[in-house]
Amino acid sequence: MNHFQYIDGVLNAEQVELSVLAEKVGTPFYCYSSATLKRHYSVFADSFPRGSLVAYSVKANGNLGVLRTLARLGAGADVVSGGELRKALKAGVPGTKIVFSGVGKTRAEMKLALEAGIHQFNVESEPELEALSEVAQSLNREAPVTIRVNPDVDAKTHAKITTGTSETKFGIPWSRARAAYALAGKLKGIQVVGIDVHIGSQIVDLEPFETAFRKVVELAYVLRADGHAISRLDLGGGLGVPYITNNEPPPDPQAYGAMATRVTKDLGVQLILEPGRLIAANAGILVSRVLYVKQGEAKTFAIIDAAMNDLIRPALYDSHHEIVRVNEPGLNTPRRKYDVVGPICETSDIFAADREMPELKSGDLVAILSAGAYGAVMSSAYNARPPAAEVLVKGDLWSVVKPRLEDDAVFGSERIPDWLQG
Ligand code: LLP
Repeated sequence: MNHFQYIDGVLNAEQVELSVLAEKVGTPFYCYSSATLKRHYSVFADSFPRGSLVAYSVKANGNLGVLRTLARLGAGADVVSGGELRKALKAGVPGTKIVFSGVGKTRAEMKLALEAGIHQFNVESEPELEALSEVAQSLNREAPVTIRVNPDVDAKTHAKITTGTSETKFGIPWSRARAAYALAGKLKGIQVVGIDVHIGSQIVDLEPFETAFRKVVELAYVLRADGHAISRLDLGGGLGVPYITNNEPPPDPQAYGAMATRVTKDLGVQLILEPGRLIAANAGILVSRVLYVKQGEAKTFAIIDAAMNDLIRPALYDSHHEIVRVNEPGLNTPRRKYDVVGPICETSDIFAADREMPELKSGDLVAILSAGAYGAVMSSAYNARPPAAEVLVKGDLWSVVKPRLEDDAVFGSERIPDWLQG
């Protein structure tokens, strides 16, 4: 459920008219709904036993306004870089609720995280364990560690966002898990606290999750018998969201929580969850204006002022995003087929192909839905285009939480070398 709906013929974010925001902020802009973030977080968090840690995956949408909203609700954070760690802390997430994931943590990032007293490091390789041990010792600290194991389970999702098979760079291969824990047990400055697993993103079937979690539970018993203190299971993120396609709808968070609780309950561990998309995707939209409607030989193109530099998901993953008009079309508005495209000079700069929708005219505002996760965070300045602004709404309040950069801020830091001067 989300809080974007038509009121008196205009699409609103909670109680704010998007057409008013477009006038004030300019297009394109992302708009996030606090009430939707809150609802998604609460439904998810309430699906797990008391004492579980819901560490929102900052990579999905790391805007400080979004992070502060979630931090106030009690969310922790799953971070994958020093930058995300700093943002989570700045937003008010306590270090003790932060988990640090990722295959390539640098020593500087490890130091930062140790100084922040984070809940745990999710370690992905033996050399990383050794580096962390050295950094922890140099600071006279103990690093709480889970090892991310790769269960070799196919999450049946898009190839570019599957992570739990032996073909991917993620986690320690299942066959080496015990040996990696034995190494961790011996290393100074490392304190083994649990196991971590993450098999992919936008997963719409509970079965691969359950297969992976069962394997991890079995491993936990083996590791305990080996003498390791396994008191936490980090089950990663990955639960899919409805992108309003004809495809199978994802399971609801309650079913996911009930399954994870059932499979792990005999172990008596703290559960850690790292949802990203589920919290943010349907809490955000990208609002854009139609620049031109161009009649091609075979197709009609609606050229809008947002582009793949603002939202790259359709180009990268062929993802489907519903596109609606901000001014509600009347019942008699004719429907036409459009390719909705951006101004970037690439054929892949396309948001929808052959999409039947109510007629569009130059100047119309459109909203690209389900754009709150992996939207703004993946934006770039390709074609020297400043990425879209970001706005956070709460009831009838709104605030620009990231302004659109001026051209100078986008490329003003570039330098012409001395030898090309003059
Ligand atoms: N934890 C780990 C270790 C992850 O690698 C990820 C996502 C998450 C949690 C959060 O997963 P979520 O709950 O959001 O599915 N850019 C892609 C998605 C990349 C996901 C990467 N890892 C997209 O736009 O679909």
